[in-house]
Amino acid sequence: MRTHEIRERFTQHFVNLGHESVPSAPLTVDDPNLLFVNAGMVPFKPYFLGQQNPPFHNNLATSIQKCVRTLDIDEVGITTRHNTFFQMAGNFSFGQYFKQGAIKNAWALLTNPVAEGGLGLDPDRLWVTVFETDDEAASIWRDEVGVPESRIQRMGMEDNYWSMGVPGPCGPCSEIYYDRGAEYGAEGGPEADDNRYMEIWNLVFMGYERGAGDGKNFEIVGDLPQKNIDTGMGIERVACILQGVDNVYETDLLRPVIDVAEELTGAKYNEKQDNDVRFRVIADHSRTGMMLILDGVTPSNEGRGYILRRLLRRIIRSARLLGATGETLEKLLGTVMDTMEPSYPEIADNRERILRVALAEEKSFLKTLESGTQRFDTAAAAVESAGGKEISGAEAFALHDTYGFPIDLTLEMANEAGLEVDMAGFESAMADQKARAKADNKAKKHGHTDESLYRQWVDEHPTVFTGYEELTSDAKVLGLVRDGEKANSVAAGDEVEVILDQTPMYAEAGGQLADRGVLRAGDTKLDVHDVQKIGKKLWIHKATVAEGGLDVGADLTAQVDEKWRHGATQAHSATHLIHAALREVLGPTAVQAGSLNRPGYLRFDFNYTDQLTQEQMDQIALITNEAVDADWEVNTVETSLDQAKEMGAMALFGENYGSRVRVVEIGGPFSRELCGGTHVAHSSQIGPVSVLGESSVGSGARRIEAYSGMDAFKHYSKEAALVDEISKAMKAQSGDLPERISALSEKLKAAEKEVAALRKQQLASQAGEFVSNAETVGDFRVVATQLPAGVNGGDLRTIATDIRNRMRDDAAVIVLGSDNDGKLPFIVAATDAAVEKGVKAGDLVKVFGQYVDGRGGGKPDMAQGSGAQAAGAADGFAAVKSELQAL
Ligand code: SER
Repeated sequence: MRTHEIRERFTQHFVNLGHESVPSAPLTVDDPNLLFVNAGMVPFKPYFLGQQNPPFHNNLATSIQKCVRTLDIDEVGITTRHNTFFQMAGNFSFGQYFKQGAIKNAWALLTNPVAEGGLGLDPDRLWVTVFETDDEAASIWRDEVGVPESRIQRMGMEDNYWSMGVPGPCGPCSEIYYDRGAEYGAEGGPEADDNRYMEIWNLVFMGYERGAGDGKNFEIVGDLPQKNIDTGMGIERVACILQGVDNVYETDLLRPVIDVAEELTGAKYNEKQDNDVRFRVIADHSRTGMMLILDGVTPSNEGRGYILRRLLRRIIRSARLLGATGETLEKLLGTVMDTMEPSYPEIADNRERILRVALAEEKSFLKTLESGTQRFDTAAAAVESAGGKEISGAEAFALHDTYGFPIDLTLEMANEAGLEVDMAGFESAMADQKARAKADNKAKKHGHTDESLYRQWVDEHPTVFTGYEELTSDAKVLGLVRDGEKANSVAAGDEVEVILDQTPMYAEAGGQLADRGVLRAGDTKLDVHDVQKIGKKLWIHKATVAEGGLDVGADLTAQVDEKWRHGATQAHSATHLIHAALREVLGPTAVQAGSLNRPGYLRFDFNYTDQLTQEQMDQIALITNEAVDADWEVNTVETSLDQAKEMGAMALFGENYGSRVRVVEIGGPFSRELCGGTHVAHSSQIGPVSVLGESSVGSGARRIEAYSGMDAFKHYSKEAALVDEISKAMKAQSGDLPERISALSEKLKAAEKEVAALRKQQLASQAGEFVSNAETVGDFRVVATQLPAGVNGGDLRTIATDIRNRMRDDAAVIVLGSDNDGKLPFIVAATDAAVEKGVKAGDLVKVFGQYVDGRGGGKPDMAQGSGAQAAGAADGFAAVKSELQAL
C-alpha cells in the first residue's frame, strides 16, 4: 500500500468517527522550547492545557502532521526506523472519549480488512505495552479488544509515560507494536527487541501537566482541566510494514532517492554496510532538507538554519564518500519532490525556490570542502614530516569549526593518509564548545508567558477589533493586569495591561508594529505604548497610567495616535508594493521571509541567493513608485483560504492561517496578499517610497530597506541638500559632480606622488650634510639621526644606501628612523670596512627595536625594522652607539 493511501485511510477512518480533519501546521513553530514541530500534538497544545477552547466540531480532531526530529541524527541509516522527517498521524479528543475510545479506534483501523477501509494488519502480530500501574488500559486491551495477556507488557516512566520533554501536558501511554518476524530478532515482545517488534502507534492518555525536570524525573504539577487523548501513528513505519520492506528508507517515498544516488555516485546499494548507511542518510536528509526549505527555512549558522545546513552538508559529504564528484542536490531533491508532491501539492509552486536555496548551499560547501582539504593536507604533511602519526584534536576541531568539516570526513581522510586523529582531544574541544553554546542558549531562552492568566478572557471575551473602520472607539474595561497578576483597579504611575471588549488599536502582527494611543475616562489618561495579541484573539494594551485611576468595568474611549497609524499604514502598503515589484523584477522565486513596518520605515526580507544589481534595484524602486502614482484602489476581501490561494494571493511560509482569511489587493492583480494589517485606501496615499538599498541577511536571504511617506521626502531633501553643499564646495553644477570628483581624485593621486618624489629628492640632497655631521664613536664614523616624519621603509633604505656609498671608504654605520603614520620604521646600514670590524646591522636593529617596541632583522650590512613607540627612538640611537663603542 502506497504511503499516500495510508494517509488517506487514516484520515477517512477518523473523519467517519466524527473527527474534524485539520491540515498539518508548518514545521516551524512559534515555541521557545522547540525548533520544529516534533509531534502531532504540538499545534494542539493550547487546547490540551485549556488555554483555549478547541474550535473543532465534537471537540475531536485528526491530522497528519509534518514532524522533524534531529536529536537522533547519528542514528539515521543505522537503525531501520529513524527518519529525521516523518509524518505523524494522530487523533485527538479534547474531553471526549478517553482510554477505551482511543484503544478501540486504533485497533479498528489497524486490523480492519483493507476492503473495509482498514490497514489489514494481522492481529496476531500486534503487541501492546501499557504504563506499569495502568490496570485500566491493560484490561481494556485484554477484555474488550481480546489481546492475549501474553502480548501485553508493562513498562515504566521511560517508555510509557509521554510528555514533550518540557513542562506541559503529559500522561501515561500505551503503545502498539508489530512483530516483523524471527528474521528481525529475538522473541519476547517489545521489551526484548524493539527492532523486531516495531512501535507503530503511541496512545497518550493526556490528563496531567508536568513541571521541570529531565528524562523520567519530573514532577506532576496538576491535572489538566479535562481528560484528553493524543495519539501518534508513524506513517513511515506502517508503510515499511505494509510495503514489506526492511526499513523506512526503502519505502515508496524514499527508495527512488536511493536509486538516483546510485546513478550519481556509481556505488551500489546493498553491497557494503558503510555505503548503505550513506545511501540512507542521503535519502532521509534529502527529504527533510526539502521539507524545511518548503516551510521557509534557509541555511545559516544558528537555530533552524543550522540544522538545515547540517542536513544538506551531510548529504553532499555522503554522496562524495560514495564517489560523487560534482553537484548532486538538484537531482536528489528533485526526486524527493516528485515522491512527496501527491501529499503536498504546494511543492509544485516552490520547486524552483527550493532548488535555488539548496544549490547555493551546495556551491558554498563544495568550496569549503576544497579549502578544508587544503588545510587538511598541510596539517597531514606537517605531522608526517615531524615523524608523527596523529592529527591533533585541536586541528580536527579547527577543521570542523572553521571549515565546517564533519569529523568523520577528517577521520576518513586521515585514514587514507595513513594517519590517526586524536579523538579524545577533538571531543574535549567539542565539549567545551557545546558547554559555551549551552550557557549562551540558557541566557537567551525566555520562558512561556503564563497565558493561563488570560484563559477566561480568550475564551469568553475575544476582543472585537474596530480599527479597520475607525480610530476612536468607546470600550469597556474587562480586565486589568499589573505585575503579572489580575487587579481590580490601577492608579497613576502604574504599568498595566488593559483588556477591553473592543479596540481600534492594531496589535503587532504581520510585521506591522502595534499602534500607540491613549485610553481616556473622565480625568483618567493611560498612554498605550504596545499592543500584543494572545491566542490571536485577545488584545493586551500595555500602558502607563499617566493621570487618574481606572477600575475594571469602567467605560472609556480608546484613541489611536493618528499620525503613528498613518505612518505605519503607509509603510505597510509600501511593503506590499515592493514585494510585488520585486517579484516582477526577480521572478516568483523571490519569496517573502519576513518584514517590519513602522511609521516612515520598512524592511523586507526575502529568499534570494544573489546580490541584486543596481539596475534591478532601480527597477524595483521605479515600479513601486509608479504603483503609487497610479493611485490604485486598495481592496480588502474576507474569504476562504482555498479561494484566496485561487486568487493567487501570496501567503507567508510558516504562517498558520485560519480557515477565513483577509486578502489585501492593490491594483487588482498587481499585488494580492494574505494580510491582517492596516492599509491606505488608495496607493497614492503611500506617498513617495525611497529604496535605500539591499543587503544579505544570512545565506539565501536578502533585505531591502526603504523610507515611505514624509520620511522618504525628508530623506530625499537631505540628500539634495548634501549634493547642494558639495556643488558649492566644488563650484560645479550637480550634474558635473561625478566627473569633477573623479578628476579631482586623479589629480590628488598625482600630487601625492609628486610630493613623495620631492621629499626623496630633498632627503637625498641632505645626504652630504649628514655625512659631514657624522660623529666618531669608538672605531667608527656614525650617522645616527631621526629623519622628519613621513618617510617610509623604502625611502629610508634609499637614503641609507646613498649615505653609505658616500662613506664607503670609512668604517661607517648609519642608523636612521622616521615617524610614518604612527609607526616607526628604522634602518641600520654598515660599510664593508665596518662589517670587517665586526658590525652586524641585523643585531643592531634588534638593539634599537627594544627601545621602540619593534622588531626587525636583516644582513650584517643592512637591516630594517619597524616599531610602535616613537618616543623611545632617542634611547635607541644611544643604545646602538654604546654597542659600537664597545666593539
Ligand atoms: N505525542 C505522542 C508522540 O509523539 C503521541 O502523538 O508519540
